[in-house]
Amino acid sequence: MEKIYISPSLLSADFSNLGSELNAIRDAGADWVHIDVMDGHFVPNITIGVPVVKSIRKNSDLILDTHLMIENPEKYIDAFAKAGSDILTFHFEACKNNKHVVDVIKQIKDCGLKAGISIKPKTSPEELFPYAGMADLVLIMTVEPGFGGQEFMHDCALKIPKIRENAPENLIIQVDGGINNLTSKICTSLGANSLVAGSYIFGANDYKKAIESLL
Ligand code: DX5
Ligand code: ZN
Repeated sequence: MEKIYISPSLLSADFSNLGSELNAIRDAGADWVHIDVMDGHFVPNITIGVPVVKSIRKNSDLILDTHLMIENPEKYIDAFAKAGSDILTFHFEACKNNKHVVDVIKQIKDCGLKAGISIKPKTSPEELFPYAGMADLVLIMTVEPGFGGQEFMHDCALKIPKIRENAPENLIIQVDGGINNLTSKICTSLGANSLVAGSYIFGANDYKKAIESLL
């Protein structure tokens, strides 16, 4: 069976106890931890920045899966790399043109990180075809980015096979937004191999059971 990478989104964690939350998701079987960076411009919310990523790095050996929902991603790549991110995912919609997208992917890879590119619900999957061979990961948003706890948008999941059919085999396809024990199965059966889940995992009494139920 193909490996499915589970990435709990810290956005729904108890921010006053980040250290114990990180240990709890590791012990529960998480592969990665998903860190949502929002700037109040690209999305209407402000969340975590570089210093928090640096502290998380000191306290956790999990793969730091950093989701940049920010304008001008190129300005912050070096800082997040130095802070200890392992994967940096930026938004296609934050880029001005094709060259901008290619340059951001290159910049992330030159820092020695895995490069991810994400699309919002209204962006067509075809937009990503030119980059599917360059990026390490494609993140298909299954809600409008900005907040946790929203309802899964089924139409967005139909983008998964379109990307899968037009990408190298080793491309990781991740979904983010409204993922629970039912929507996870829809996504993995369509070809996703990384699941982000925030409220479903951190809202559960038993993180291990919640993670297992996604698979
Ligand atoms: C939303 C974020 C998500 C969010 C998912 O913009 O990118 O990572 O935390 O939250 P749930 O899993 O609760 O939909
Ligand atoms: Zn996210």
